[in-house]
Amino acid sequence: MRMTQTSDLWWKNAVIYCLDIETFFDADGDGVGDIAGLTERIDYLAQLGVTCLWLMPFYPTPDRDDGYDVTDYYGVDPRLGTHGDVVELIRTAKDRGMRVIADLLINHTSNEHPWFQAARTSTDNPYRDYYVWRSDPPPDTSDQVVFPDKEDSIWELDERTGEWYLHHFYAHQPDLNIANPKVRDEIWKTIGFWLQLGLDGFRVDAVPYFLSDVGLDPDEQEVDDPHTYLRQMRAFLGRRHGDAILLGEVNLPHEEQLKYFGDNGGDQLHMMFDFIAMQKAYLSLAREDAGPLVEALTQRPAIPHDCQWATFLRNHDELTLDKLTDDERAEVFAAFGPEERMQVYGRGLKRRVPTMLDGDPRRIRMAYSLLFSLPGTPTLYYGEELGMGEDLAAEGRMAVRTPMQWSDGENGGFSTAPPDRLVGKVVDGGYGPQHVNAAAQMRDPDSLWNFMRTLVLTYRACPELGWGELTVLDQPRAHVLAHQLSWEGSTVVALHNFSAEPVTVPLRLDVPPDSALVDLLRDGTTDIGPDGEVDVPLEGYGHRWLRVRRDGERRLV
Ligand code: NOJ
Repeated sequence: MRMTQTSDLWWKNAVIYCLDIETFFDADGDGVGDIAGLTERIDYLAQLGVTCLWLMPFYPTPDRDDGYDVTDYYGVDPRLGTHGDVVELIRTAKDRGMRVIADLLINHTSNEHPWFQAARTSTDNPYRDYYVWRSDPPPDTSDQVVFPDKEDSIWELDERTGEWYLHHFYAHQPDLNIANPKVRDEIWKTIGFWLQLGLDGFRVDAVPYFLSDVGLDPDEQEVDDPHTYLRQMRAFLGRRHGDAILLGEVNLPHEEQLKYFGDNGGDQLHMMFDFIAMQKAYLSLAREDAGPLVEALTQRPAIPHDCQWATFLRNHDELTLDKLTDDERAEVFAAFGPEERMQVYGRGLKRRVPTMLDGDPRRIRMAYSLLFSLPGTPTLYYGEELGMGEDLAAEGRMAVRTPMQWSDGENGGFSTAPPDRLVGKVVDGGYGPQHVNAAAQMRDPDSLWNFMRTLVLTYRACPELGWGELTVLDQPRAHVLAHQLSWEGSTVVALHNFSAEPVTVPLRLDVPPDSALVDLLRDGTTDIGPDGEVDVPLEGYGHRWLRVRRDGERRLV
């Protein structure tokens, strides 16, 4: 295998771990997680095998959208620490073999950002054109709002100047006017600044939203191809830091996502989350039928060589099911979030994986084994490695943003502050720290944490998964996904049983005579018949990863 490629295009088989500093670990005991706390816990992440940290926003903010509302792109939220702390964090992470990326939030600022404060003082203020305004009353845009529980239009009247400003998200998040060269200059400077401090790239928030404004002149006529802007951003990033990445949030059908990767081997985003495969995976889990996921995987278009899908099961937002049909979404709701208090915005669930899967360890492990075996780069959201649950009493998406559970001590070991001073309430009940915490699981060889660690390390040792060509294997069991990934003459076969019934899966593999299948997640070797036929037994909700060992091959496993 040409292994050197895997360190060159490092994002193609990284293990990404997303966390919010304020809920991770509180080093100074004020109730808010901080950068020094995360730095203290870097070894925990290194032990898990994480190779890339994704930091949720840590910039100064009035915190009306959990930091996705920024008042200074060059600053650090003083509750979390200082620029010095950021540099120490990045240095320490790098020493432990981890790259660090962070959210880049350029669709909008907070309405408390000094630019917007100035812009709204008069129509001829120099900052006016940093944002997008209209003077005539807007049409009905209620079908375009992202948060229908809070907004009914993407335009908000600004009383003082009598004009409306654009906000795709909350009204307190005015959209930046990226068509304005001065705004573009600020964005280049922001990117350059954080790269200079040591970041390895960005998770780019809300990409289609900010691109939709790029090519518009004030009369909303398209004057420029928005993708030219994304191409320029990529080129700028590459000039400043050769192997930094852009990981974009683009929740669109696969075919539409393609143009965000770009041409010429991929000249726009390096990576995008695969929202389609994620949503279809839940439909498959709900139906106990591999079909929907197979459809998503086989219809995934080929992407440029240097690009990659980021696969995931959960993130900090609702588990969005917006790309399913109404009936499909209703099926997933019925299976995993039947009560209204579990649902949000009519399109998603405010739950984590273990609670949705009724705490069944076989199903939870199968789901994560599936995640790590899919072609792409797996992305974990903090606490997933422990099987943390959610706090349904918390408003909306805050349900899954509770403090990290480190131990069974006070506040789950997150902070020494009194509980009423914590940034968020620690989960209580069956998923609380008494039952779910890192310290206990790290010591227990049979814990979910150790299972997850095995998945991480095995994924890293199987470049076929990040780099290989996918074949969904023909076999007669509808509730089983059998797929293989081949790269550089090496093949990994993975099987996942979506149902509770044990099953034997007959496969016919295209392999040379005298090959065998070597289990990667447990002990065992299975001979493959002369015509490539092999029967693979799976337990109920079972999973197996198997590498094809060709006769006489010199491999460790
Ligand atoms: C997407 C982020 O994931 C979400 O948390 C945020 O509310 C919106 N963008 C607006 O920034």
